[in-house]
Amino acid sequence: MKETKAMNVGIVGCGMIARQYLGVLGQTRWLSPVACADLVPERAEAACSTLEEKEWGKARPASLEEILADDDIDLVLNLTNPKGHYPITLQALEAGKHVHSEKPLAMTREEGRQLLAAAESNGVRLGCAPDTFLGCGHQTARAVIDSGRIGEPSMVTLFMLGSGPDGYGENPEVFFQAGAGPLMDVGVYYLTDAVQLLGSIQRVTASAKSTFPERLMRSGKLAGTKIKVEAPTHVTAALEFESGILGTLIASFDILGGHHLAPVEVHGTEGSLSVPDPNGFGGNGAFKAARSSEPWEAIEPTHGTSGMARGTGAADLAAAVANGRPHRASGELAYHVLDVALAIHESAGSGSAVDVESTVERPSPFAEGIVEDIED
Ligand SMILES: NC(=O)c1ccc[n+]([C@@H]2O[C@H](COP(=O)([O-])OP(=O)(O)OC[C@H]3O[C@@H](n4cnc5c(N)ncnc54)[C@H](O)[C@@H]3O)[C@@H](O)[C@H]2O)c1
Repeated sequence: MKETKAMNVGIVGCGMIARQYLGVLGQTRWLSPVACADLVPERAEAACSTLEEKEWGKARPASLEEILADDDIDLVLNLTNPKGHYPITLQALEAGKHVHSEKPLAMTREEGRQLLAAAESNGVRLGCAPDTFLGCGHQTARAVIDSGRIGEPSMVTLFMLGSGPDGYGENPEVFFQAGAGPLMDVGVYYLTDAVQLLGSIQRVTASAKSTFPERLMRSGKLAGTKIKVEAPTHVTAALEFESGILGTLIASFDILGGHHLAPVEVHGTEGSLSVPDPNGFGGNGAFKAARSSEPWEAIEPTHGTSGMARGTGAADLAAAVANGRPHRASGELAYHVLDVALAIHESAGSGSAVDVESTVERPSPFAEGIVEDIED
């Protein structure tokens, strides 16, 4: 049984990803569900039933307006589709609620800045996915880097290579619409992990293309029909970090035959570190010392959460408020990642390097130990 009831939660958007959040609501002592809303009322009802059946909590179906007007609700989880993030998050912040949003934070820098300002002026916290970096796979990598084991980090590779979500879920066509694509959908997990490991990115130079101008949808309402691809589906970028570290990023939906490239590697003056896939929380990294002929040494997880899923960032936000510390999956971190991702697309469009205006502090690392919930 949960001992602490730190924040009452209203969920807005009860689609595919909400299922992961419901499980975290049952697991963490920092969040208690109260109400669920969706444009499709049956989805909100189904989410409430799932919470009750699994004994993860008790919530009532409600409208967005009812959630915003309910003084007992402290935090809104905005799990709607990307275009709903900015307007719903803004309304919730202005209603005096803390918000944890799914990614991306917003569609434009202007929207993102307005959300940061609204959180500040209303005295509430704004958090945003990705929060996978709170998992033990990534917190352990952070501890290895911070311990100096690979020496001074000098470069990072970030490879998100796949064949695309043509057959994923009910609306796979949205992944190919303008403003979407592999960088915004999955590449942001890699950028977020890179920033928490190595700090802010200050300049990017990129190229992008769509290898296939049309894609055949294999699931959902449009299954069996070809759609026009509007977003670049293969993006490649050189990243310059403030620290002088250089990064190479590929985010692609166009790799149909498989590959042998590791998701994330950080190379330093004393050795190399392989980091698990940032699209997940866990996994084992590996280390190889400089000029060693020994094989890669597996790294057992030593830091971060285990067995948690998407929503961990919201639990961290609630714990942060209770303990008066900054939360880790913050609006500022998500804004910097949005700024970098938009800069990559702009550079690909213009053919020139683009400076990234925003900077962000690395979120604070976890203390040693594997935890099943946010501890404090
Ligand atoms: N599905 C995944 O694997 C996955 C993984 C990680 C992150 N995400 C992110 O989560 C978000 C949601 O994705 P999803 O796959 O769950 O989509 P989804 O379409 O399955 O669910 C979104 C839900 O939000 C509801 N909704 C939309 N606008 C609303 C509004 N104004 N008020 C109330 N409800 C509203 C929709 O009716 C729908 O039920 C996206 O930002 C996506 O990038 C999804």
